[in-house]
Order: sequence, then C-alpha cells, then structure tokens
Amino acid sequence: MKYKQVIISTIYDVLMEMGISTMSKAEVEKKLEIPPKQDMGDYAFPCFILAKELKKAPVQIAQELSVLIKNEYLERVEVVGPYVNFFLDKQIAGLEIVSEVLNEKDNFGKLSIGNKKKITIDLSSPNIAKPFSMGHLRSTVIGNALANIVEKCGYTPIRINHLGDWGTQFGKLITAYKMWGVEEKVKREPIKELLTLYIRFHEEAEQTPVLEDTGRSWFKRLEDGDKEALSLWKWFREESLKEFERIYQLMGIEFDSFNGEAFYNDKMDVVVNELETKKLLTESDGAMVVSLEEYDHPPCLIKKSDGATLYATRDLAAALYRKREYDFAKALYVVGGEQSLHFKQVFHVLNKMGYEWSKEMHHIPFGMMLKDGKKMSTRKGKVVLLEEVLQEAIQLAAQNIDTRNPNLAHKEEVAKMVGVGAVIFHDLKNYRLNDVEFSLEAMLTFEGETGPYVQYTHARACSILRKANVIEHEPVSLEAFKDEKAWTVLSLLMKFEEVIKQAYHQFDPSQIAKYTIDLAQAFNKYYGVVRILDEDEQKQARLQLVKSVTIVLKEGLRLLGVKAPEQM
Ligand code: ARG
Repeated sequence: MKYKQVIISTIYDVLMEMGISTMSKAEVEKKLEIPPKQDMGDYAFPCFILAKELKKAPVQIAQELSVLIKNEYLERVEVVGPYVNFFLDKQIAGLEIVSEVLNEKDNFGKLSIGNKKKITIDLSSPNIAKPFSMGHLRSTVIGNALANIVEKCGYTPIRINHLGDWGTQFGKLITAYKMWGVEEKVKREPIKELLTLYIRFHEEAEQTPVLEDTGRSWFKRLEDGDKEALSLWKWFREESLKEFERIYQLMGIEFDSFNGEAFYNDKMDVVVNELETKKLLTESDGAMVVSLEEYDHPPCLIKKSDGATLYATRDLAAALYRKREYDFAKALYVVGGEQSLHFKQVFHVLNKMGYEWSKEMHHIPFGMMLKDGKKMSTRKGKVVLLEEVLQEAIQLAAQNIDTRNPNLAHKEEVAKMVGVGAVIFHDLKNYRLNDVEFSLEAMLTFEGETGPYVQYTHARACSILRKANVIEHEPVSLEAFKDEKAWTVLSLLMKFEEVIKQAYHQFDPSQIAKYTIDLAQAFNKYYGVVRILDEDEQKQARLQLVKSVTIVLKEGLRLLGVKAPEQM
C-alpha cells in the first residue's frame, strides 16, 4: 500500500528534521501502530520512545512532530498524549485501496517474503488401517491453510502426507487377517474391517499370548521383504488410502507426496551409521539411544534391542531426505500437542548431528476436538466418523438451502461447499492451541462467527453485483468513501496484507478466519444503512467497494481452504 510507505517516509523526514538520527525507516514502520478504535485514526506513532534522545517530555515531542507533518494522503493529524494519530484522507486512500484490489484481484495481499523458497508441511498423516481421527482432521485443515498462507507469502509449499504405514501393528494385522479375515469384507469396508480384525487380535491375544509372537514374526517377515507379508501390507495400504482419498476429495485437499513411514525403511541404516560415526549413539538397556541430557529431555530411542527401528528413527530419516530432496527453507510439522516431546527430541538430535537447518524446523501443535467438553474419540462401531461428520454437515447445509433458497441452481454443489466449509472454518477460527468444542449446529448457523455467515455475506455482495454493472478502472466520484461505515470496510481491506503476514509469522490461520468475520460484519453494517444501487454519481464508487469486498472475502476463505459460492 503506497500511502503507508508515504506516511512512514513523512515521519522519517520529520524526525530527521527534528534531529533524530537513530531511527531508520524500518524502525519507524515497526513502531507505527494501528489504533484500537477507528475514531483514533488509522495509524498512531508513539513518541515516548524519543524522549531519551530529545530530552523532552513525550507529549511535547508529539506536539512538535504533529506540526511538521504535511502529506497529501492525510486528512489531519491529532495529538493524544504521547501519540500522534494519523487520519488518512478517506477519498485519496480509499481510491487507492479499491483500485489496488480491483487491479490485483486474487493476488491482492500477496507478499514476496518467501522468494519462491520451499517450505515442507507435514500434515494429515493418518495411520493406515485405522479410522481417520478428529486429530487428523485438525492436522489436515490447519496444515492445508498454512500451506496456502505460506504460498501467499511467496514460498512454495510442499504438502507431505507422512502416512503411518509401518510398525509392529502390521504384523498383528497380517496375523489376524490370515486367521479370521475375509477378502470381500475388507474390500467393501476396508477401515472398518481392518479395525475389527485388529481389535479381535488384541482380544484373542489376551487368552492366547502366543499370538503376540506370531504377530512379531510376521512383522519381521515384512521387514525382511517376505513376498506374502508385503503383498498383504500393500493391499491394506491401498484400500485404506482409497478411503482417505474420498475424505480429501470432499475437502478439496491435495498432497505433493504420500511418502509415509514405510518409505524410509531403506533410508534408516544411513542415519544409524551417521549417528554412530558422529559418536552420538549410546547403549541403554540393550537399545541404542541418543542422549539429550543437556536439554533436560529423555534420550531419543533410535533402535530397539531386537534391532527394530522406531518412529523417531523414521522421522530423522525423513528430515534428511526432505532436506536433500526439497532443500526446504523451513519444515513444518502439523501434529497434535501430545507429540511435542517427540519433535523436540528429533530436532535436537538433528542439531547434535551438526545440522544448522534444524533451527528452521517447527512443530505446529494444536489442541483437541471436544464433544461436550470431553475428548472426542472414535465411537465404538462408528468407524468412519469423520466422513460421516462431513456428510452430515452437507446434509444440514442442503436442508438450510432448501428453506432459504429452494430454487437455487447447483444446490448439491453449494451444499457441499457450505457443509464442508462450515467444518473447516469452525476448526480454523479458534487459535489452534485451544481445544475446539465440536457442534454441527453451531458450525452451520448463518448468524454468528461461522463459515456459512462469511460465505453468505460474500454471496449477498455477489448478488448486488449481478444487479448492476461495475465499471472498473473508471474514475469515480469519491464522496462515498467518506461514509463512516464505508471507511470501516476500506480500512479493513487495507489491513489484509498485514493480517496475512501475521498469520504466517505466527503460523496461525485463525487470524485470517477472524479477519474474514470482521470484514463480513463491517460489510453487512454498511449494506444495512447504505443504498448501494441508488442511481446517483456515487453508485460506481459503492459498487467498486462491494466488488473489492467479494474479492477479499473469497481470497480470505480460499486461504483457509473454504470455497465461496456466488449464490446460496
Ligand atoms: N501418523 C502419526 C499419528 O497419527 C502422525 C505423523 C506425524 N508426522 C510425522 N512426521 N511424525 O500420530
């Protein structure tokens, strides 16, 4: 935004004039605040930071500074205590904002901080042959939004689905399948059937402990590349993936890689050898570990006493592989808070191995999904919980549309956008570390802070535009931007870029979700009092404002992974 830079330069010049030589333009920008209330102006500059250097009271400095400020973008400046508040000229700034949005369209708010460098995002990562849990839903939704956000900041995101497709449980599963499995059943409902087999294994193993040995020996055969074991494992994996794929399609999420834990089987010897050469491995109860005493962490387990590798070993191998393959600038792991220690250990081990880049690895934890205040777990017998939730949300959305807008075209498609969007938005509007109370009704209301509310506002704005022709890039009469409610909308539009930047720096999609709610509310207030379609010379300015709102709402929702139908 040009005017912001102009204001920064003006302040900078005035500071020079006053004899302040210690502040760069970047520092002025850092200190520049956005006042908490609109009637306090659009920007505020705090003067107490200059008191020491000027040996004057901050209030006096503010007075002196304010007198020297002159700029065409400013309507006026006001001194409030130690602050100088800047009021933009609503017509000049408003025109610039709207022109920028209309010119740049969905590129509005795009940043170039990333310089196309890559960021890997480890997300979703469900476990094969097990139901897709709520935790995996959160990881999918948050990870996908973060990928969109880093892309908007100029990075190239690499979405990696680190499938849980390896481990001793597959030995047990093969054992159970060979004893009680029925091919047809697995084909029909893979996750449900495999889970049943897995549960049965544990029940029977309590009576017949020798089953555990059989399980272990099947896993050993699997690790040794036994043909039968491998082909069963592959089949379980494929069938499970087919089911996960349905969920991803429903949510409109794609991945760059499905390299899960199994992919690293042949890449772990190298890691273990390297740890050995670097003299980091120690023995503990027959197992090989890396001590992390200096960090006050328990040791990181690398190899069990029977020679089997572990989850952490595979994550080490994955990190090295990803660095080689993608040369990432940052690596994000969107995984529940319960795994915090695991990631600390992995990052510390990499650091001990001498990899500086381990500092650019971030675990992005999140809270739990609660139902009636309790952790939401897969209910017994109801295995494909998540898919059911999504389908239920779509159905509710469809009912809603039927009562509100029975003649809507493409009803089914819209219901899908609204239902799925509601679930995603509900997850993302909360700060990720907070637990989320799951409630379909709350997600799907059209009032309040919900996805459907934002979508509906967008559709409403689109419907105005269908009734009148916006003439873009036409000089317009700008009086309309002086309206108090119009200015609230405009000043939110100009904050979009800032919000994206913050969401990126804090890995926090909720800031974008909240922003879309604020913008939708501001627009609805504007729409409630201003007759947009009235035939007067302000009409084009108002329409351009409406058009800008549709662009930014849609783009904000897209960053979250939510679609914005034009009618609903
Ligand atoms: N499959 C794991 C789980 O469900 C999550 C994997 C997370 N990613 C990773 N690189 N460890 O708990």
